[in-house]
Amino acid sequence: MVAKIVVTQPVHAEQLQRLRDAGHEVVTLDSPRGLTAEELVEKTRGADALLSQLSDKLTKDVFADTSLKVVATIATGFDNIDVDAAQAANVAVTRTPDVLTNATADLAMTLMLAVARQIPESDASTREHGTGPFQLLREPMGIDISGATLGVVGLGRIGEALAHRAHFGFGMKILYTARSQHPAAEQRFGAVRLPLGQLLAESDVVSLHTPLNDETRHLINRETLALMKPTAILVNTGRGPLINEAELAEALVNGTIAGAGLDVFENEPDVHPDLLAAGHRAVLTPHIGSATTKTREAMSALAVDNILAVLAGKAPLTPVG
Ligand code: DGY
Repeated sequence: MVAKIVVTQPVHAEQLQRLRDAGHEVVTLDSPRGLTAEELVEKTRGADALLSQLSDKLTKDVFADTSLKVVATIATGFDNIDVDAAQAANVAVTRTPDVLTNATADLAMTLMLAVARQIPESDASTREHGTGPFQLLREPMGIDISGATLGVVGLGRIGEALAHRAHFGFGMKILYTARSQHPAAEQRFGAVRLPLGQLLAESDVVSLHTPLNDETRHLINRETLALMKPTAILVNTGRGPLINEAELAEALVNGTIAGAGLDVFENEPDVHPDLLAAGHRAVLTPHIGSATTKTREAMSALAVDNILAVLAGKAPLTPVG
């Protein structure tokens, strides 16, 4: 059967070729931004498959009266998709876990170190003023990461990969929150499961890896920030709305916490102006957790594998849920 596959945003050409080689019609929209639900309703009319990305808004309207059989999002997170509505409409939803775990954990570690050692600020001042004479007491000093305590909020694949790096590479003590106990992590790196409030109070660095849903939206807010140490660093490579950005900016300016390393934002593509105004206390990157050449290629390939499987009447490789 020749299927029609709609591709919302630019994707690796060789992966699209695999779809064509399998005899399918590929319609590339090449949108420079995520598509709205109205646009998706219109563009997927008569289509069998959708190759989408995390900024496409797959609300229930998209599935209300659809010909789609499969939606393959090139991401591990799927909070932009109404999965219940897709399931009710018999549309398989797939995602791309695992292949991005290492790249994203690497970025979380990088942000932690960049904030602790004030890398962007030091780079800027070196470019502007040179190094100046070496001074033992030159302020501001950094924060030690080696031997510090890392609190991982959500010990899934990426949280665990970060904990591995932090424990074995930097001798960090690992605390975690999770819906269920992780005996393997407890045995391997002595991880200790705690309620969120206690984890926030005891950690030197807190890194967010929990999925975004109604329960976790604004998990980090004025009240939870107040539980953290004034020397603590917050890292977010998960989803922006886990944090109330205005309240985080306030906490950075007031010195409630020492700094934040953020790769994801509450209202992407915008960054809250107060966070920009918080200066060097916030190190900001533009949602690049999975952005290495190999990882992004692997994500596209896995999404295409999923589409080909479903269109061939087989089970998806990495379904949501
Ligand atoms: C994901 O996959 O969910 C990331 O946020 C983007 O790579």
